Amino acid sequence: MRKEVVLITGANGEIGHGLISYFFDNENTNVLALDVMPPDKELEKMCDRFIQGDILDNMLLGRLVAEYEIRAIYHLASILSTKAEYNPETAHKVNVEGTLNLLRLAVEQAGWQGKPVKFLYPSSIAAYGLPDLEIKNKSGKINEDEWCHPTTMYGCNKLYCEHLGRYYTKFYRRLAVDSTQSGIDFRALRFPGLISASTTPTGGTSDYGPEMLHHAAMGIPYHCFVRADTKLPFMVMPDAIKSLLLLEQAPRENLKQLVYNVTSFNPSAGKFRDIVLEAFPKAEIDFVPDLSRQGIVDSWPADIDDAAARKDWGWEPDYDQQRAFTEYLIPAVKAKYS
Ligand code: SER
Repeated sequence: MRKEVVLITGANGEIGHGLISYFFDNENTNVLALDVMPPDKELEKMCDRFIQGDILDNMLLGRLVAEYEIRAIYHLASILSTKAEYNPETAHKVNVEGTLNLLRLAVEQAGWQGKPVKFLYPSSIAAYGLPDLEIKNKSGKINEDEWCHPTTMYGCNKLYCEHLGRYYTKFYRRLAVDSTQSGIDFRALRFPGLISASTTPTGGTSDYGPEMLHHAAMGIPYHCFVRADTKLPFMVMPDAIKSLLLLEQAPRENLKQLVYNVTSFNPSAGKFRDIVLEAFPKAEIDFVPDLSRQGIVDSWPADIDDAAARKDWGWEPDYDQQRAFTEYLIPAVKAKYS
């Protein structure tokens, strides 16, 4: 008999850390973790098995099908927006071909199991692309169907993979004589910038938020790469994990769409600095905008509308701006670096 597991790709990343810790602390879930980087030792202990390997390695994925009964896939591996711009073709391979490989794996698994395999996919505010700052400032909360004209390779990849998820769920091999459902139950979240107290992101463009906080806590000066008036939606990691789990557990019939916005608060970078300075009065934070990265952030929405998630599966963040900083981020980063 093959062992029943949940497969988590990109396990070493920020969301991977949060999700694996949650499963370890709260649920009797066997985690099969995959990451291209060597495992973080603490994290490895929380997994049933941690494999260092590449989602582009089809032989490896084939072996996983043979060995495990994978009931759900959290496909977290990807190359983030800033890093992807330095090598767009490699980013495309990892972000799109990697996702396609996992969708294939899910089809095979569903076939063997005779039941749907859930495919949880973190998409992003990068899937949006607003043409200029004036429109961004005028647009207010943006819903899932507006302004889907991404301007980064990462954003294009995320939006396209949402479409792939829809295709595999609803239209897979639609002309085949023996056409049957693929068995994939694809569910995606468009995350805002995520902030964790225990890890820092690598290669993203919303990174100025978490970087400002962690630098202040470590006593290292920080040059913020966007203007003080720059606004993006954000959410803390415990809420990101909560949203993934809630969406995974939602009855399929309640889900009117395959892709949902989720968010919590949206301070300007200047406000972010004020809050950090209140907690760390000696922090040195100034604004030295990098025009290219600023351009990316200016094309992302200042706020997103998560009404559909609230209505369909009861989404609500536990941490608004006040609670996020006072009850989670500030005490936890102080403890981490003391
Ligand atoms: N945090 C991501 C990035 O900045 C957006 O999803 O690339």
